[in-house]
Amino acid sequence: MTRTLIQGGRVITATDDYRADVLIENGRVHAIGLDFEAGEDADVHDASGLLVLPGGVDVHTHLEAEVGPAMTVDTFESGTTAAAFGGTTTLVDFAQQPHGGSVIAGLDDWQARASRACVDVGAHMIITTFNDQTLADMKSILRSDGVTSFKMFMVMPGIMMIDDAELYRIMRMTGENGGLSCVHAENGLLIDVLIKEAVAQGRNEVLNHPKVHPASTEGEAAYRAIQISKLAEAPMYVVHVSSQDAVRHIAEARDEGTPVYAETCPHYLFLTEELYDAPDAEAAKYTMIPPLRSKEHQDALWRGLATDDLQIISTDHCPFCLEEKSWGLKYSKALGKESFAQMPNGAPGVETRLPLIYDGGVRTGRMSLNRFVQLNSTTPAKLFGLFPRKGTIAVGSDADIVLFDPEERWTIRAAEHHSRIDYSLFEGREVTGRVKKVFLRGQVIVDGDRWLGRAGGGEYLPRSNSGQV
Ligand code: URP
Ligand code: ZN
Ligand code: ZN
Repeated sequence: MTRTLIQGGRVITATDDYRADVLIENGRVHAIGLDFEAGEDADVHDASGLLVLPGGVDVHTHLEAEVGPAMTVDTFESGTTAAAFGGTTTLVDFAQQPHGGSVIAGLDDWQARASRACVDVGAHMIITTFNDQTLADMKSILRSDGVTSFKMFMVMPGIMMIDDAELYRIMRMTGENGGLSCVHAENGLLIDVLIKEAVAQGRNEVLNHPKVHPASTEGEAAYRAIQISKLAEAPMYVVHVSSQDAVRHIAEARDEGTPVYAETCPHYLFLTEELYDAPDAEAAKYTMIPPLRSKEHQDALWRGLATDDLQIISTDHCPFCLEEKSWGLKYSKALGKESFAQMPNGAPGVETRLPLIYDGGVRTGRMSLNRFVQLNSTTPAKLFGLFPRKGTIAVGSDADIVLFDPEERWTIRAAEHHSRIDYSLFEGREVTGRVKKVFLRGQVIVDGDRWLGRAGGGEYLPRSNSGQV
């Protein structure tokens, strides 16, 4: 039997805040109490002065993922190592149905790659092609493989977009079977016209990227998806919310009692659209969809977090290098050097979520420590069928624990990250609050700057029903 004792820290969950020792046996929290005797065989960790947090749960990452002709640069090994250094011990990553291909093949392919994960991973499935077989396969992986959530794109017609009728049928089946439909809410047909017009007019610079993804197209799509989910009598989840337009429709639906949930991401909370005015080589860092928006939209996101209209912060870690020479053209924003329209959309973030939100959320008084844990660990685990195994520190839960120094001041530098990405959205930003040690099911995998985890050390997480908190 392996026994680990975390002594004298301040234990924070979504509801509690107290000083205690945490005793871990065989990978699970065995007891929480005061002044435990270590015993001779125990591995003891001094947590005095540190916060003892549940491991982060990030329900939005794209590792080794094909996006059109591009591929995200982080493997399961590098991406989950980066996650661990950022205090995240569980990912729910996006598997993808190949366009025109099979959902089952998409999951098999994802499982093979995910076997090298260093933290625990579950899968959502992105649906790219709809037919009766798709629906049958979705039902099968929902029931048999614990893939209880799906993502549908309302954008990128001809590549990823699912139309309204298809969305309705997917939502209905998913809701009936205890699953959750996640939507990328942007009006793809309108955006396509705006992109084509910009290119035809020779407006190829990155500063055109936010102009062809106006907030109104996000708001419209969010509203439409909500109406479809109401008709389907199914819960839904809006991913990467960036605009006040979307927040308004989500809040209105929730006020009516409709089961609509939503997330936002650190980049929308801390960065604004002026960054697109930089020269293309710099502005390319920020080409994600939806794009960064104005301060007014950002304020609405913070309000949404405060009112619980937004319940989760995830990263949408979808890394493409700035430089072709880092890992090759396929993994790089350089695919779009002739036009923003060809640039792969997505940005990194899996390694910096907890320190950024602690520094910019808790320390600024915008949220409590309990809310911090709720947004980053507990609600993602609950909504996506992983609670109480994940997302909290409680007797019987997996001992996924982060020792976090709330006072250490440090500077974010891509060169010190563990992801394969060659930039950070937050390069040079000083933050207070740092991950010091990370336990995955009781094993120390991060100790300061030492990596003690291993490829394949993560487990696949079949999830129970999603869409209930
Ligand atoms: O630009 C983004 N967000 N890329 C990742 C794919 C997605 O839509 O989540
Ligand atoms: Zn998306
Ligand atoms: Zn994404």
